[in-house]
Amino acid sequence: MKPAPKTFHVKSFGCQMNVYDGERMAELMGAQGMVAADADSSDLVVLNTCHIREKATEKVYSDIGRLRKDQGKLGRTPMIAVAGCVAQAEGEEIVRRAKVDVVVGPQAYHNLPALVAKAAAGTSALDTDLPALTKFGHLPARRRVGPSAFLTVQEGCDKFCTYCVVPYTRGAEVSRPFAAIVDEAKALVDAGAREITLLGQNVNAWDHDEKGLHDLIRALDRIPGLARIRYTTSHPNDMTQGLIDAHAQVESLMPFLHLPVQAGSDRVLKAMNRAHTRDSYLRLIDRIRAARPDIALSGDFIVGFPGETDAQFAETLSLVDAVGYAQAFSFKYSPRPGTPAATLPGQIPAEVMDDRLQRLQAALNRDQHAFNRASVGRTCPVLIERSGKLPGQMLGKSPWLQSVHLVTGGQIGDLVDITLATAGPKSLSGVPTTVAALQRTVA
Ligand code: SAH
Ligand code: SF4
Ligand code: F3S
Repeated sequence: MKPAPKTFHVKSFGCQMNVYDGERMAELMGAQGMVAADADSSDLVVLNTCHIREKATEKVYSDIGRLRKDQGKLGRTPMIAVAGCVAQAEGEEIVRRAKVDVVVGPQAYHNLPALVAKAAAGTSALDTDLPALTKFGHLPARRRVGPSAFLTVQEGCDKFCTYCVVPYTRGAEVSRPFAAIVDEAKALVDAGAREITLLGQNVNAWDHDEKGLHDLIRALDRIPGLARIRYTTSHPNDMTQGLIDAHAQVESLMPFLHLPVQAGSDRVLKAMNRAHTRDSYLRLIDRIRAARPDIALSGDFIVGFPGETDAQFAETLSLVDAVGYAQAFSFKYSPRPGTPAATLPGQIPAEVMDDRLQRLQAALNRDQHAFNRASVGRTCPVLIERSGKLPGQMLGKSPWLQSVHLVTGGQIGDLVDITLATAGPKSLSGVPTTVAALQRTVA
């Protein structure tokens, strides 16, 4: 038996969906009267885990060990809950191996308070059911959020890329109803959000009552006080003409699109079961750029998929050259137990993967820096998200999702007009446009 926890800490790993889930779990605990605290001093620690790449599981076990040691030094025994995708994938095994108190999957976390109560009564508690969307009906209302908030609209994945665990850990594709999303968006704006990023493992596959993501975006565009809309992550095959048109027509929809391609070779794409080709992807990019010429493009890449030859990897590099990404994420292929690719012949040696990743990242960093340099002189609104390290410095985001440092009288949550002044590899500095105009007059 452990006393019912009074304080809690949620630590989220992985994608933005997990960040959103972590916030909702914290709200659930708050509604139970628990108070947020540090990991080292909390009665309950929730590890909201990610399973996407290797060592994720081992990392969870070592985190649990470290947590027990750190709190043990203070004579404490925290209650530990494992949530997220490792919880879904490992289930009972975590209870057996690490003797944690609670295991809860990503579709069942609305039951966390009940599971915690059960654990406090002395039995370890597990719930890894995958009911479609039940949890949303059980979560408390949104009360206080930062200027930029996440809103999950779609969950799960039916694409079954051969390397990926998501269809197994998150279940099948399901879309939340239109009205529930609009209500939550309004609540987020009332709670302080000026920007909302719609989330889904395949967010552009969202559909409900014959409506598509573009209809949802147009509805959110009409919410007073909501200045910016973004969405992530999109699959190339679900990029409809309606959504492309929205990029040309909806002012609050930001000129940024994360559209993972994974690889540049058709042979590799086919083995990955991506269901698009290099050429269809490049033609799609052309259509998006025709609709919104200044759009900033982002992507995900995997190097060293089983069987990938040097020549096929070179096709990834040439695709990067052809697109010119504003930013991107790149990973070494990681075999995931239970996925088809894990048992394919031709697994690539570590040193080859390292070399390919280094070359790809050099190209992506070069392009990101070039995109940032090409932005210098642009005037745009920046949404201030937090204060910076230097006195008076604030940090915000440009419409193209670039990090911008600026010194301004503005507060967190303000949209300030700035002129982008200098560009680094990962961020820019900006000057309030009024000041920039003065500087020009003086010069
Ligand atoms: N639904 C999104 C994101 C999935 S996970 C999409 O389809 O794009 C985020 C990224 O992790 C993927 O885009 C992919 O680049 C990477 N990833 C997924 N499984 C991986 C694996 N087994 N090894 C290496 N990277 C992987
Ligand atoms: Fe994974 Fe592919 Fe689904 Fe993305 S589309 S979540 S990479 S299976
Ligand atoms: Fe990780 Fe699960 Fe997200 S595996 S990337 S936390 S969907």
